[in-house]
Amino acid sequence: MGFEGLTYTVITFGCQMNKHDSEHVGGMLEALGALPVDAIKEADIVVYMTCCVREAADERLFGQVASMKNVPLREGSPLAKRIVALGGCIGQRDGEQIFSRLKNVSVVFGTHNLSSLPGLISSVLEDGSHHAEVKESSEAFPTDLPSTRETPWAAWLPITIGCDNFCSYCIVPYVRGREKSRPLDDIVKEAQSLVDDGVVEITLLGQNVNSYGRDLYGRPRFADVLDAVASSGVKRLRFATSHPKDLTDEVIGKFAALPALMPALHLPVQSGSDRILHAMNRRYTSDHYLQLIERLRASRPDIALSTDVIVGFPGETEEDFQATYDLIEKIGFHQVFSFIYSRRAHTPAAEMPDDTPRPVIQNRFDRLVSLVERQAEELNQADVGSLVDVLIEGASKKDKTRLVGKTPKHQTVHAPVPEGTSIENLRGTIEPIRIEKAGPWYLSGSLSSS
Ligand code: SAH
Ligand code: SF4
Ligand code: F3S
Repeated sequence: MGFEGLTYTVITFGCQMNKHDSEHVGGMLEALGALPVDAIKEADIVVYMTCCVREAADERLFGQVASMKNVPLREGSPLAKRIVALGGCIGQRDGEQIFSRLKNVSVVFGTHNLSSLPGLISSVLEDGSHHAEVKESSEAFPTDLPSTRETPWAAWLPITIGCDNFCSYCIVPYVRGREKSRPLDDIVKEAQSLVDDGVVEITLLGQNVNSYGRDLYGRPRFADVLDAVASSGVKRLRFATSHPKDLTDEVIGKFAALPALMPALHLPVQSGSDRILHAMNRRYTSDHYLQLIERLRASRPDIALSTDVIVGFPGETEEDFQATYDLIEKIGFHQVFSFIYSRRAHTPAAEMPDDTPRPVIQNRFDRLVSLVERQAEELNQADVGSLVDVLIEGASKKDKTRLVGKTPKHQTVHAPVPEGTSIENLRGTIEPIRIEKAGPWYLSGSLSSS
């Protein structure tokens, strides 16, 4: 099996898990000789890594894949017809039903069998037919697949796959399977090889990293993973995502104890109403969440917090929404990802009475978004005048004379590229920047020569 002479592109939707899986897709195809290209029109093989967490993403995907049939194959392609493969969470959910809905798709695979993709593509190359393979669950943690990396200096490192939480609105447990922890020595080995490779920032990944080890008889725990990965010497360590019910004092303490652990935490709250939290099967109260925030701030006073909120969960009243609004206002987040509830078939919430009119939900959503924007700007303003270490990511897409990077708190910073400096030499380095201006979603400043 070889894909020499073929070009490929991967189009990714959804969360970091999918983005990381896409790096494996690229790694596998390149190991067999395929060459990466950016545009669909240049690609002989197009792989879609899909997401179905909300209806909008789902529909957009079907629209986009269907409209692709109008894009002609590149000149000089050895194929008679482009190979379109669909993987990720919609592949897992719909399996071969995809073929009747999207005639131009010839390969379907799921979240548990990434490694089947090259074989499925080969079968299509051989017989010109279509092939699907979806598995019920992963037998082992998929660690040995080849991989490409979007950026040489930053890496995602999965420590768990799957999710056992079954929040009542969420499809993820059905498409990603049961939670599995990766053996600690495996994690440490990968962290070390990433650091040896020049990686300065590692983000540990899992749907709920805090429950790491639950399937390994409770030991080691997530706090042990943090210690072990920090001792690889990585400069910046982050993790996502955390479930408030499983965030322990031990982990909170690591924000004070481990200098590499960046002062930023994404802690999805979903709602501020205890009645709604209960209906969501989140298994914590708003009070518990507030206490966690207090402890986090005691451990690391400069910690920047971000969260997810669902507006318009079935049965959400004005009072419930107000409780969410008040909680967000009281805490003050650097970023809030707000989502309008989206009904997902086969989840428990899909059966709950849901009669709040759409304009009412939209109005709540808009109120929340303006609160969040105001608070984010206020929090960012507090950094004006300070000197912060910024991990430089590259040139701004809009203006090549400006660079973009991330602060320890994960704020985006823009600054002019100093005269006589090549942006290529700055990419992946950590530089001090004096912050001069702040908006809700960015900071700007100048590289400090001191
Ligand atoms: N495992 C992570 C992220 C899961 S999906 C976690 O638990 O935080 C990311 C976010 O999508 C969730 O936090 C939730 O806010 C949102 N989400 C999930 N299902 C949704 C649905 N049916 N409708 C609207 N938003 C949803
Ligand atoms: Fe979905 Fe809840 Fe699992 Fe997150 S913790 S993936 S919201 S079921
Ligand atoms: Fe979407 Fe699947 Fe992630 S549904 S959010 S890509 S786990």
